[in-house]
Amino acid sequence: MLTIALPKGRIAQETMELMAEIFNAEFKFESRKLILETPKFTFLNVRNQDVPTYVEYGAADLGVVGLDVITEKELNVLDLLDLQIGKCKVAIGIKKGDKLDWSRPDIKIATKMVNITKNYFAKKAVGVEIIKLYGSIELAPLVGLADAIVDIVETGTTMRENGLIVAEEIMKSSAHLIANKNSFFEKKSEILDLYSKLKEAVEKRA
Ligand code: PRP
Repeated sequence: MLTIALPKGRIAQETMELMAEIFNAEFKFESRKLILETPKFTFLNVRNQDVPTYVEYGAADLGVVGLDVITEKELNVLDLLDLQIGKCKVAIGIKKGDKLDWSRPDIKIATKMVNITKNYFAKKAVGVEIIKLYGSIELAPLVGLADAIVDIVETGTTMRENGLIVAEEIMKSSAHLIANKNSFFEKKSEILDLYSKLKEAVEKRA
């Protein structure tokens, strides 16, 4: 029996569609239920940012989470497979018409992804002040809280509707299958079996 933590919403739904294709069965959470038990798998319906926690502590053997979250949190888990769903990018956004002078000493960047931002600017040898926010990041440059943002861009709608443009792309992201290290050794054959089936299904879609 494998326990799999899925992030609430579209990625959970798409992962379960992938599983449905493979196992020829329907997987669906009942309205407000957070656990779905099936003969082979137990699915947990958790917040996106919490998936790694369930997997790191071994409350879930496997999880599905964005590469951006894996990178941001420097997780102690095994990154098994790019599921090629939930594709997006992490990018720097600025107000349309603005031009950022990276040599300025007092640039402020608002983001919920502090580590990715810190590492990106450290590599460029640019000193910035990072302002941590928890959501609605696009608001920050509009009201003068920050000069730029580092955030997820999926369709680009949020930036566009708020008069922002992508100035630089930092990384591409998509949902990955991750595993708890102990689970991987204790349940290796079950995990590898699911891994190879998922890999085949992902490759078939590409
Ligand atoms: C994410 C992200 C952007 C938006 C990008 O926010 O932080 O705001 O989605 O998507 P788009 O390019 O398709 O418009 P989320 O919906 O997770 O909410 P949050 O701002 O509260 O984190």
